[in-house]
Amino acid sequence: MKKFITATLIFFFLAMGTMFLWGFIDKQSKESSTPVPPTTAGSSNQNSSSSSSSTSSSSTAPPTPLEKTYSMSELSSHNKASDCWLDISGNVYEVTSYLDYHPGGADIIIMFCGQDATKAYNTKGGNRGSHSSRANATLAGYKIGVIK
Ligand code: HEM
Repeated sequence: MKKFITATLIFFFLAMGTMFLWGFIDKQSKESSTPVPPTTAGSSNQNSSSSSSSTSSSSTAPPTPLEKTYSMSELSSHNKASDCWLDISGNVYEVTSYLDYHPGGADIIIMFCGQDATKAYNTKGGNRGSHSSRANATLAGYKIGVIK
């Protein structure tokens, strides 16, 4: 009888241990497989303190000394899906790597690569209203400078 109880207890603890490990491994693999859109952060000449200025950059504020400036003609040469820059409210965004993550689809952005996309962005390409504050925060991560 004693042997039976000992065996039952060992079996119980082994089963509990396996279930715990299983749950833990499952949780880890779910966390690591969540897709995160890449940003261009670090590839521009902005430092982290100047990027805070991009939150207030919806207006055409004069560039800070650290911000890179681009002419409209330079912007217009980045006009394709494999190299897509947007001018939104006088700020320049390099959104190539974001295209595939756009909830509204890549094509709607691709039409505006190399152009002033302010109106398109603010109306979601028509009368669909403005983008959310989450979208504005995502956009800020792709800023590479301002229009001269
Ligand atoms: C040419 C510019 C763009 C146009 C015409 C456009 C249009 C749209 C459309 C049609 C939708 C889906 C429909 C809807 O939610 O009502 C959408 C959703 C969204 N877009 Fe764009 N988009 C543009 C650029 C961007 C950029 C550059 C970003 C970020 C880097 C962005 C981020 C988002 C996000 C996060 C959503 C989900 C809804 C929200 O949070 O507002 N979009 N967009």
